Amino acid sequence: MDKLIIKGGVSLKGEIRIAGAKNSALPILASTLLTHETVQICNLPHLYDITTMIELLGCMGVQPIIDEKLNVEVNSSTIQDFSAPYELVKTMRASILVLGPLLTRYGKAEVALPGGCAIGSRPVNLHISALQAMGADIVVEDGYIKASVDGKLRGAHIFMDLVTVTGTENVMMAATLAKGQTIIENAAREPEVVDLANCLVTMGAEISGQGTDTIVIDGVEDLKSCSYSVMPDRIETGTYLIAAAATRGHIKAKDTRPDILESVLSKLEQVGAEIKVGEDWIELDMHDKRPNAVSLRTAPYPAFPTDMQAQFTALNSVANGTGSITETVFENRFMHVHEMNRMGASIRVEGNTVIVDGVEALKGAPVMATDLRASASLIIAGLVSENETSVDRIYHIDRGYECIEEKLQSLGAQIRRVSS
Ligand code: EPU
Repeated sequence: MDKLIIKGGVSLKGEIRIAGAKNSALPILASTLLTHETVQICNLPHLYDITTMIELLGCMGVQPIIDEKLNVEVNSSTIQDFSAPYELVKTMRASILVLGPLLTRYGKAEVALPGGCAIGSRPVNLHISALQAMGADIVVEDGYIKASVDGKLRGAHIFMDLVTVTGTENVMMAATLAKGQTIIENAAREPEVVDLANCLVTMGAEISGQGTDTIVIDGVEDLKSCSYSVMPDRIETGTYLIAAAATRGHIKAKDTRPDILESVLSKLEQVGAEIKVGEDWIELDMHDKRPNAVSLRTAPYPAFPTDMQAQFTALNSVANGTGSITETVFENRFMHVHEMNRMGASIRVEGNTVIVDGVEALKGAPVMATDLRASASLIIAGLVSENETSVDRIYHIDRGYECIEEKLQSLGAQIRRVSS
């Protein structure tokens, strides 16, 4: 199993290019099942989760083609099988995103029920109940969600009990080919939902209200071929900016979007960073200063993203003062805390809040990654440690960060991958 070995103490300096957003690319790949015409997807990140989604399409008889510019073309007209097997769903919960497209286009789908994971129980009851409200017949048996519909799904007025990102995406995709109008209330406003909606509109869907909490979809007969470029990854962008702030560095993230990172940039300013932005770049300069601790509370967009709290915990662990981080989206997203304490951090968990007392420096130790964003936070902890840190189980990081050690090396970090 691969490990990352990090020798801390270097301030990150330089420029990096941000990849396409994993959490847009996954639903956009699933949306190719909505049309028998060819969809070209550009700016896909090179990530393990993307490979898994392509493999999932392959299991169904759909063979995506990768062209010379690493764009992917998908033509789903060769589909033969309408199921997502447990072997793939257990490695990537986002496999649930094929449920809505398969059901609305082919009238049937079987998707393994995702279990709990390292960050919480993560049920999919809201995906199921919304599709049932649209006329789907759904049973959960033998560990599978077995869905079918007699004829077409029909538009419905759906009120989501909780803001759910993939739930909103699944229902939005299903509604594009349903009969009549669907209104999703309390819809997720995340930029990745907007990116998917924009891709669907390019395919001919009729959608309005994306980016607000009410999305209206008027079903159409068919969707058609299109070419779509995935938006930049805001979580990857934020992770590098936080790493630079924690190491008192100065970096520029290119090919990104400052407009979808406002809550994070405002926290980085509170940390003491000077931030400059252009249309597609963000520059952060700490002027060699130690960061100040910040407090934050996660919540659905546009509030502070749950996918970036672990990285701020790493930053707070070496900051001036005390910061508290409250997680309101997932019930168990503090696994990294115990690993950071093994590195000399002073962090305590009180319910859904962690209180971090900043120390002068962490001390390198062998640590274990438990999920994708926790892995990123342990790498940041390694970068601010006095000696060597090894991060084990880094297959988690390869699910969501493209070439992380190469990008960090290009910023001056001393990090390398070893196989054990
Ligand atoms: N929830 C339910 N029932 C449902 C759906 C969700 O109770 O049917 C609960 C969840 O258990 C959670 C909350 O609602 O407590 C929000 O979950 P959501 O459904 O929004 O999460 P998701 O769609 O499964 C996506 C991202 C996550 C990100 C969350 C929150 C993708 C593929 N995944 O997950 O990304 O943390 O939204 O923003 O888009 C990551 O990239 O590391 C990651 C975990």
